[in-house]
Amino acid sequence: MLITFEGIDGCGKTTQIKLLKEYIESKGLSVVTVREPGGSDFSEQLRKILLSSKNKVGARSELMLFEAARANLVDNIIKPELRRGKIVICDRFFDSTTAYQAFGRGLPLDFVQKLNLFATDGLTPNLTVYLSISLEESKRRTSRQEFDRIEKAGDEFFLKVIEGYNYIARQEPDRFVVIDASGSRQETALKVREVFEKRYSAL
Ligand code: TYD
Repeated sequence: MLITFEGIDGCGKTTQIKLLKEYIESKGLSVVTVREPGGSDFSEQLRKILLSSKNKVGARSELMLFEAARANLVDNIIKPELRRGKIVICDRFFDSTTAYQAFGRGLPLDFVQKLNLFATDGLTPNLTVYLSISLEESKRRTSRQEFDRIEKAGDEFFLKVIEGYNYIARQEPDRFVVIDASGSRQETALKVREVFEKRYSAL
């Protein structure tokens, strides 16, 4: 089973992934967590290039580097782990590219979506958890942090990213589950568990 988490900065992905991993492991199941961009040696190197504010990276190069990182992660980690029967949780996956590069940067949506599937060799998550918060909440939660190259884009960019996520939610309501993440950690964790249980038992 492949589970991916999505959301804008400050939505609590990292915490919720950790809590879900602990919950699944407490049931005696084996979980592997990875992140995008990154997760394999090659992709972690691309991550540094992509997130460094020193680099001037245009939208097309950005798109292709994210896809290259993804293809490598899928081939070398995600697919082998799934074959071993593990549950894989990935912090971001191709929906980030649809939201950030197609909607945020304005690259053509149909092309981005084709490239997404090319990069994953057709692999699609069984479940995607979108932790939804408003831009205002995101700013409140991240006010003291240092921003990487992509996080430095302005409000207009992030409103488009949110629009992108909402678009995916309308297109694929079964796979892409929207969870209101504006409440406490514990409240959100309970909602995530519920969604996981429902999907896992239906597999
Ligand atoms: P990261 O530090 O992992 O951010 P977060 O903790 O918010 O997940 O940095 C990943 C950044 O890369 C984040 O700003 C989103 C962006 N990104 C894209 O623009 N496209 C993509 O396909 C992926 C995977 C990430």
